[in-house]
Amino acid sequence: MSTHETPSIRTTRAGTAYADAARDHLWMSFTRQSTYEPTDSGGAGGSVPIIVKGEGAYIWDDRGRKYIDGLAGLFTVQVGHGREELAEAAAKQARELAFFPLWSYAHPRAIELAERLAADAPGDLNRVFFTTGGGEAVESAWKLAKQYFKLTGKPGKYKVISRSIAYHGTPQGALSITGIPDAKIPFEPLVPGGVKVPNTNLYRAPEHLRENPKAFGRYAADRIAEAIEFEGPDSVAAVFLEPVQNSGGCFPPPPGYFERVREICDEYDVLLVSDEVICAFGRIGSMFASTDFGYQPDIITVAKGMTSGYSPIGAMIASDRLFEPFRHGHEMFAHGYTFGGHPVSAAVAMANLDIFEREGLNQHVKDNAPAFRATLDKLLDLPLVGDVRGEGYFYGIELVKDKTTRETFNDEESERLLRGFLSKALFDAGLYCRADDRGDPVIQLAPPLIIGQPEFDDIEQRLRSVLTEAENHVETPPVKYRHL
Ligand SMILES: Cc1ncc(COP(=O)(O)O)c(C=O)c1O
Repeated sequence: MSTHETPSIRTTRAGTAYADAARDHLWMSFTRQSTYEPTDSGGAGGSVPIIVKGEGAYIWDDRGRKYIDGLAGLFTVQVGHGREELAEAAAKQARELAFFPLWSYAHPRAIELAERLAADAPGDLNRVFFTTGGGEAVESAWKLAKQYFKLTGKPGKYKVISRSIAYHGTPQGALSITGIPDAKIPFEPLVPGGVKVPNTNLYRAPEHLRENPKAFGRYAADRIAEAIEFEGPDSVAAVFLEPVQNSGGCFPPPPGYFERVREICDEYDVLLVSDEVICAFGRIGSMFASTDFGYQPDIITVAKGMTSGYSPIGAMIASDRLFEPFRHGHEMFAHGYTFGGHPVSAAVAMANLDIFEREGLNQHVKDNAPAFRATLDKLLDLPLVGDVRGEGYFYGIELVKDKTTRETFNDEESERLLRGFLSKALFDAGLYCRADDRGDPVIQLAPPLIIGQPEFDDIEQRLRSVLTEAENHVETPPVKYRHL
């Protein structure tokens, strides 16, 4: 089944086919636009996929084709698509108070949501600073860390340690924390002070540690202590870590990792920021994934799943200790966003969290995650599948050239396999997910939290058929055809 052959059947108000208007006017995020430019101007002549409808775990394109949403939009639509009550919550709030900022004033929905997040957040994380998305939450957390140390007599502490290949967003501070060179190079010089340490990719761990996750966890955590020592403890403000690192393909923390990181942060007075933009709101099984892994952060950053994507919002949730200097005198956190804590988004977040409670979604994830994992593990019999890893409803499937040696693909092979074949083939097979090559090539899965065994089987079957076919696309072509 090919998705991109027939012209789009819907048109804009101006009478242009959606795909043509998208090609001519829409500048998409992280998108190679040449894919959609006409062939006579050097493009690949593809047609922008246009999604027009969602229901439960499924989405439909403008040609009426149905896909299982294996990525919850973008790690976001936790409760599934088409929830009438979330649309209602938005409409009701827009009628009552469509907008008011949180600049020295407040509104009921932001207050209620802040109280609810504080109640669910671990320990004394009781202060909620709203943003409109995840990158802004990360940006806010770094700024808070810097100002906090200025106010408490350690003004030299400004650097941030984060992990290789980790993604933390696109504002220039968040990008400096990000560990993906290709995402950063075009915008350098970035905010100074971003320091990188190894991530927790057990599959690619030093060979002597691969069979001993605990030792690997200790090794990886100790790299943070080493970096702090190297940079100078008086210059390091915070460590930013995802509970399960997304970019690179789902790296869960090895046993003991966060325990050791917490110890290190305490020893050097460095803040531990848990970037839960993906992992919070049931993705791993609890409201906050730091709870799943049993560690206490100083700040949690969230966004995406807070409203299941029905309206944009993000937040930085900080500890009482970090708020303390701001309670007195003239001090303030001179930072904010017009739309931070937007009333409509806050109302939708409340209604979304009501669904979580009513339907026991977190428990559903905890109960079903082992079956999801076991179903995906079946793919390990395919020659291309090197590793299946993740937690909860969040998995990465790493593709390799040679399973025995774990040899990965070079850039050209990866390009041909992922961009040239897999991305489109998976979509054509009715599975919306992500083939990612920001680290080693992986397929990423993070479906809505409502699915169960029938959908696990469906996903596995679709992946199986496409990955079986993909083997025909990994052979290196004869030299004369390369670079065409
Ligand atoms: C861990 C993490 N942090 C931050 C961000 C940035 O969030 P946003 O795209 O809402 O700015 C993302 C986005 O995927 C993310 O995965």
